[in-house]
Amino acid sequence: MLASQKKAAMSSTDFGSRTNSRRQGRMILIMQPPELNEIIQKAQQLRFTMNCDIETGQLLRTLASSKRAGTFLELGTGAGASITWILEGMDSQSRLVSVEMDDSIQSIARSIIKDERVEFVTEDGSIFIEQNKGKKFDLIFADTWPGKFYHLEEALEMVAEGGFYIIDDLNPVDSWSLGHGDKVQSLRMKMRGLHDFRIVELNWSTGLIVATRRTK
Ligand SMILES: C[S@@+](CC[C@H](N)C(=O)[O-])C[C@H]1O[C@@H](n2cnc3c(N)ncnc32)[C@H](O)[C@@H]1O
Repeated sequence: MLASQKKAAMSSTDFGSRTNSRRQGRMILIMQPPELNEIIQKAQQLRFTMNCDIETGQLLRTLASSKRAGTFLELGTGAGASITWILEGMDSQSRLVSVEMDDSIQSIARSIIKDERVEFVTEDGSIFIEQNKGKKFDLIFADTWPGKFYHLEEALEMVAEGGFYIIDDLNPVDSWSLGHGDKVQSLRMKMRGLHDFRIVELNWSTGLIVATRRTK
């Protein structure tokens, strides 16, 4: 099945609808990236609701800040919400490549995020993975189908020693399409079976797995 057909077969609501939220009823003051509100507003105008939430954003920012002169990859730019968090964690020498197949949504990120550390690629993620197989990244946020539900092994192969592979949207929500829960469960099982990685499953935000490639 072609990547485009796979995308069509799975509903976009399988990613969940994510908004900034309170945590367990408590108000927590979190410094947000300055561009985030504008990105969310513009995304709303296109009815795009798949922006990562504050909790995932904080996690990405924290992990990104652990790498010196790191090379980062995001699969699924969306409107750029996650990029704003990752950039806040990155040092001045680090670089991020963000891949998205939908130019209309990625153009929001392009128009608002003016940072030379980011390279935007408008491409199907599976093509990007195929064409960049030999490359290594210190952090991969796999936030779309390729690199997560398919081309998983290839994406994991691109994680450098000590690098992070991060996926979210793993906790069930009502809007998941029929059969999506089975796909997520199968993904969890694959992740649990990895020998070259240490993984942790987090009941945080939309449900995440963080995997780190073990050093030899
Ligand atoms: C969950 S959203 C990304 C959200 C963004 N990372 C964030 O947290 O703000 C997933 C994105 O993947 C894109 N997408 C879907 N299929 C794709 C594919 N095969 N290759 C690249 N991007 C794809 C969608 O257009 C959508 O913007």
